[in-house]
Amino acid sequence: MTGAGFADRYGPWALIAGASEGIGAQFARRIAAQGINVALLARRAGPLEELRAEIEGSSDVSVRAASIDLTAPTIADDVDALVGDVEVGFLVYNAGAAHDIRGFLDRPVENALHLVDLNCRGVVLLVHRFGGAMAKRGKGGIILMSSMAAAAGSAFIATYAATKAFDLVLAEGLWMELGGHGVDVLGVPAGLTDTPAMQQLDMKLDTRLAPMDADDVAAQALDALGTVGPVFVPGDANREMAQGLWPIPRANLVTAMSQATASLYEGLEVPSPLSR
Ligand SMILES: NC(=O)c1ccc[n+]([C@@H]2O[C@H](COP(=O)([O-])OP(=O)(O)OC[C@H]3O[C@@H](n4cnc5c(N)ncnc54)[C@H](OP(=O)(O)O)[C@@H]3O)[C@@H](O)[C@H]2O)c1
Repeated sequence: MTGAGFADRYGPWALIAGASEGIGAQFARRIAAQGINVALLARRAGPLEELRAEIEGSSDVSVRAASIDLTAPTIADDVDALVGDVEVGFLVYNAGAAHDIRGFLDRPVENALHLVDLNCRGVVLLVHRFGGAMAKRGKGGIILMSSMAAAAGSAFIATYAATKAFDLVLAEGLWMELGGHGVDVLGVPAGLTDTPAMQQLDMKLDTRLAPMDADDVAAQALDALGTVGPVFVPGDANREMAQGLWPIPRANLVTAMSQATASLYEGLEVPSPLSR
């Protein structure tokens, strides 16, 4: 979906959480290019302001930017100050990479809790805040960035992998629930992607592990939104790997799980999909 159709379905404003660089900045550029106003948030003001100026200079859309920490206790108020007066039809929760790759016990518990706040608490807060209004309007889009690391527990990234599994499974459940209200939800487990955060990790890369281009990840995720779900894996090589890791089609599994849950309790009805 492109142009007016995209803007009508997911506009008039998009909020990109973790927008200043890498995949998030590419989401912002591409969403603005579709004619949707963009609200950008990240912690560092400098890169945000540069991106705001760039998008304002290259498109006709309105751009807002705010320095906000998604792990702050004030996040709900902070985000309201940024977009509380406009209609957010699109939420991309992008922030959330692992930065401190060590054994679970080799770092203070605060490091793990920081990831829980960023990848679980922040996501739940923003999706609840904006998903409800989207459902009432009967349209909207939500992309939750996850990781191929969500496929299994892993030493040295135990909390990161667990929080990324949280994001993916949350996206799956909401795809089912909100899809019945016309809201497209997509969980996007990215594979290795060339971003400033990834470059800072000082990884031992070889030819088997060629990182994807950040713009390619954003472009593929946007193309997939509203057409496939609940999960879309960007990149042919990553998708091939994912088929081995998640052999049962996720849409079938999520539908079956939702029906099983509904059958166990009074008053629950699996929504009939409007948009898939
Ligand atoms: N890069 C990869 O190889 C890779 C692989 C698999 C999955 N992913 C997923 O892709 C997403 C993006 O990853 P990334 O590599 O671009 O790195 P990232 O560290 O998630 O940074 C992305 C953006 O989020 C912002 N951000 C980070 N922490 C924040 C916070 N506490 N509050 C507000 N904004 C925050 C960053 O700006 P500030 O630092 O200024 O806040 C930046 O604009 C993540 O969800 C990650 O799990 C990435």
